[in-house]
Amino acid sequence: MSEKNCRNVRIVEVGPRDGLQNEKKILSTADKFLLVEKLVSCGIKHIEATSFVRAPRIPQLADAEDLFAFINRSPQCEGVHFSALVPNMKGLEAAISADVKEIAVFTATSDAFNLKNINATVEESLQRISLVCAGAKKEGMKIRGYVSTAFGCPYGGDATVASVIKISRDLFHMGAYEVVIGDTIGIATPGKVVNVVRALRDNFSLKNIAMHFHDTGKMAIANTLAAFEEGITVFDASVGGLGGCPYAKSASGNVATEDLLRLFDSL
Ligand code: HMG
Ligand code: MG
Repeated sequence: MSEKNCRNVRIVEVGPRDGLQNEKKILSTADKFLLVEKLVSCGIKHIEATSFVRAPRIPQLADAEDLFAFINRSPQCEGVHFSALVPNMKGLEAAISADVKEIAVFTATSDAFNLKNINATVEESLQRISLVCAGAKKEGMKIRGYVSTAFGCPYGGDATVASVIKISRDLFHMGAYEVVIGDTIGIATPGKVVNVVRALRDNFSLKNIAMHFHDTGKMAIANTLAAFEEGITVFDASVGGLGGCPYAKSASGNVATEDLLRLFDSL
């Protein structure tokens, strides 16, 4: 790549959230914070730390408020951007009381997946998200918005590019500064990525789009490169390739942060 084409890439580390939500063993809050500290000491500047969801659904992250107490009093964490998943108003209230500055709202292209994951259809979830976004904006919180199952759903088949665009537009209208395109079950391929990214580019500035690849099909690095070549510069990744969604049958880990670093260093 010529110097002229050099672009900065931003990596959002999602290991403490997407990674740990899928681990059988539940870590103590102190151990989670140790992981966060180690990530920070590696120079990572954006970390999705946890989620404010219903504890019986994701028991691994039931200590979200406590983890943020550790983060917010740590001098080492100053200057690092932390975010957390928020599914509804109850989650938002908890995030506000934990002094979270950035939230991530999440929906999907598929009713079947959303019903299993958040007990709401896509339209119902968008209504919830609009309330959450209005509340978050009042508090001056930043908002990221996920479009999950953007390349297909384990329960509902292929996703249409039109549905990805429609939901992305809704999320931007509600106030998301960045929309994250999720390959929840790791079935994307570079050809499909190029199609989706080109459609996104026809509708939005790619500066505001991030990709979130899972590596089930071992294509996540190839997909990352394809997306980067099409103009995407923000990528979610998980240290050690941890990750998955307990409500997405067959989802495996996220693309590994260290693999992304090797890829982008080489470019
Ligand atoms: P629900 O069962 O529909 O909730 O859950 P409800 O509104 O009917 O309330 C039932 C009970 O839950 C009530 O308690 C509420 O207070 C409580 P009760 O009165 O019975 O004692 N409740 C809550 N408690 C704590 N925090 C909350 C909350 N909300 C309600 N926020 C809900 C709906 C969305 C909360 C639930 O389905 C849930 O927590 N789902 C978790 C889903 C999840 O975290 N999935 C993994 C993350 S998504 C993902 O991994 C994909 C991603 O990585 C991108 C990609 O890969 O594509 C982001
Ligand atoms: Mg994920």
